[in-house]
Amino acid sequence: MKRLFVICLIVCIGLIIINSCSDKEIKIGLLMANYNQERWLKDKDLFVKRANEKGAKVLVEVADNSADMQFDKAKELLDQGIDILVIVPVDLYDAARIIQLAHRYKIKVLSYDRLIRNCNLDFYISFDNVEVGRLQAEYMTKICPEGNYVVISGATTDNNSILLKIGQMNVLQPYIERGDIKIIYDQFVDNWHQEEGYNHMIKCLKEHGNKVNAVIAANDGLATGVTKALEENDMKGMVYLAGQDADLAACQRIVAGTQTMTVYKPIEAIATKAADIAISMARDETFENVQLTVNNGKRMVPAVLLPPMIVNKETIRLTVIADGYLKENKIYQ
Ligand code: GAL
Repeated sequence: MKRLFVICLIVCIGLIIINSCSDKEIKIGLLMANYNQERWLKDKDLFVKRANEKGAKVLVEVADNSADMQFDKAKELLDQGIDILVIVPVDLYDAARIIQLAHRYKIKVLSYDRLIRNCNLDFYISFDNVEVGRLQAEYMTKICPEGNYVVISGATTDNNSILLKIGQMNVLQPYIERGDIKIIYDQFVDNWHQEEGYNHMIKCLKEHGNKVNAVIAANDGLATGVTKALEENDMKGMVYLAGQDADLAACQRIVAGTQTMTVYKPIEAIATKAADIAISMARDETFENVQLTVNNGKRMVPAVLLPPMIVNKETIRLTVIADGYLKENKIYQ
């Protein structure tokens, strides 16, 4: 009888410990790169909302686009006893030292939207960025199959910039080889700043005059800078213009006819999925249904890549408005 009582006691204590572990409040460290573009505040808010709904606490930090500040902020979050680190890297290579640091604290890292190269990254979630570039170039070559193209690519510190370019060139290459399309200006920016879009477009127009038929800009922020340069040269609305991110300003330009298309990436989808994955990682749960891995130069990183979609005059209501991402009255004001 006494033996049975002792066994029951041990079992009860065991169950209490297990329950307290699984009930332990998960503390997530969310380390943003910056809030320079419209989307990132939405990413942050939607991620925190989902994590809180699932009973997790989120400590949010932002690195003002400085790789050194991002490293310091990561250390601060790790010292605050987070259970998992979610990061939008400022620099695709420099952020590898944050992974090494986190692993010294026995903490796993989920890379959000942008890949970190050459390190033992634990998980990566993003959109299919090669597909983003393919959608841009396919749309543009359908309506402008011949002529002079300008390609203004993203920041060199961002792995997405390379993926977009691969997607674009997969479509453009055959047109170039046939001599139908000529890329007269082709540059990556240092930072995803509107001004860089403006400066590159001004430089291109100085070198080539107004002999431009189409511009593919890596995001709508750069497209805003391009539009300003075209306007100053009385070419607004006379050049096909592609962007990414479905910023409000870009959607307003699309309905006004001064931008041709943008690529929408449903932020609610990536933010909620990332919060769910982060909580599972903090609980050391395994991901049965994650088939995909991405080579980051060091290992095959388990990954989730979400589908992007085209936004033009016809699809604007079915996409960004239907999703509640942007308000109709704001776009058509
Ligand atoms: C990229 C992101 C884009 C764009 C850009 C600038 O990594 O995928 O959506 O916003 O950063 O922040």
